[in-house]
Amino acid sequence: MRVNIGILGCGCVGSGVLKILKSKAETIRNRTGVEINVRRILYRSRRPAQELVPPGAALTQAYGDLLDDGEIDILVELIGGLSPAHEIVSAALGNGTSVVTANKAILAGYLPEYRRIAAESGANLEFEGAVAGSIPIMAAIKSSFVADDFSSAYGILNGTANYVLTRMSEGMPFSDALALAQKRGFAEADPAFDVSGRDAAQKLAILAMLIFNTGISGDLHAEGITDITADDLAYARDLGCTVKLIAKASLAGGRLGAGVYPALLPFSSALAHINNENNAVYLRSDNSGDALLFGKGAGELPTASAVISDVVRIALRLKSQSAKPPVSIFKQIPLIDPLELSSRFYIRYSVLDKVGILARIAGVLGNHNVSIAGVWQKNTVAGVVSLVMTTHSARVRDMFDSVRIIDSSNDLVRGKSLVLRIDDLEG
Ligand code: HSE
Repeated sequence: MRVNIGILGCGCVGSGVLKILKSKAETIRNRTGVEINVRRILYRSRRPAQELVPPGAALTQAYGDLLDDGEIDILVELIGGLSPAHEIVSAALGNGTSVVTANKAILAGYLPEYRRIAAESGANLEFEGAVAGSIPIMAAIKSSFVADDFSSAYGILNGTANYVLTRMSEGMPFSDALALAQKRGFAEADPAFDVSGRDAAQKLAILAMLIFNTGISGDLHAEGITDITADDLAYARDLGCTVKLIAKASLAGGRLGAGVYPALLPFSSALAHINNENNAVYLRSDNSGDALLFGKGAGELPTASAVISDVVRIALRLKSQSAKPPVSIFKQIPLIDPLELSSRFYIRYSVLDKVGILARIAGVLGNHNVSIAGVWQKNTVAGVVSLVMTTHSARVRDMFDSVRIIDSSNDLVRGKSLVLRIDDLEG
């Protein structure tokens, strides 16, 4: 069967889609029976290379040309960002045109609304490329674990941050590692989204909405990796750990705890060995227990591959005409305040090398119910000592409050302290 698509956006992922469609048209047809015909391509700043434009595909810079084209079966939205992507996707779904998107921002903000519009118009909506790159995590949730109730999702959802932390564990400074991730096409147009944890938080919101069938309004809690140094990776290694940017969503007592934070993971944990731009996610469910999905989390071709899988999935549904999308009734599970959760912690202070400093820090922590597990004095540069401390389990709020007090004492510390969680077990 032949399916007509319109592609909105020719950046990294859009070009990847065109490349795969050019080189793998026959593979796709042989394996699935679907012939993907590109009718129109919208580009914004950079016109796609002529050799990638399929014969017969019209190039345009006007969104309306795609929305008004009655022959397009599936709109592939790859422009990213909230606007105008949100308006375009809403309009297309409202018209009954099926949509494939890899846009995390609009899905994190509007997934329940899109599902409702699609259910009313009969359009299909798929977004495998939005979460965890090439890993078929949406397919697993929607087509494999269909009889399972999930209790948690836990893992690494940002390829850029994971790439940066991997390079830093080899001693490379943060800024050099980020520049390399950008050069390799992993980072967002604004890489602050990656390293602040916000990109992973959007992906976690999408994942959590799907597995728990709940709406999530507002941004999930996100802590990033910008204050971590290559020294911290070395100190973590001395403790038998590495550092990963973790995304976690889990149900507890009828409420949902969800957030993104950098954490020390022991080398005995599988996630400690997920390196470079790879992502990995544990899904925990009642029937199946733990499943670990692993693969490339970012990059032109891995993400484009996921996008094309969505196009084929919808094309086969359109062909069988069975297929109206599932009607999801989204609940509203209340969120747990992330500051009320507990964890063990790693703290790196830059303290003055003076008598009595440690006792004063210990006093502040003790006043906030934070119990120290270990202390190590690391490098000293110009009278400022890197002091590394680990704690027993403490409330996140108590930990942050005490470090805020310590950091505000000029006669105690020089510069901001770094607080990282220590995660012991996956899931
Ligand atoms: N910038 C994203 C990442 C791309 O690094 O994970 C994939 O969404």
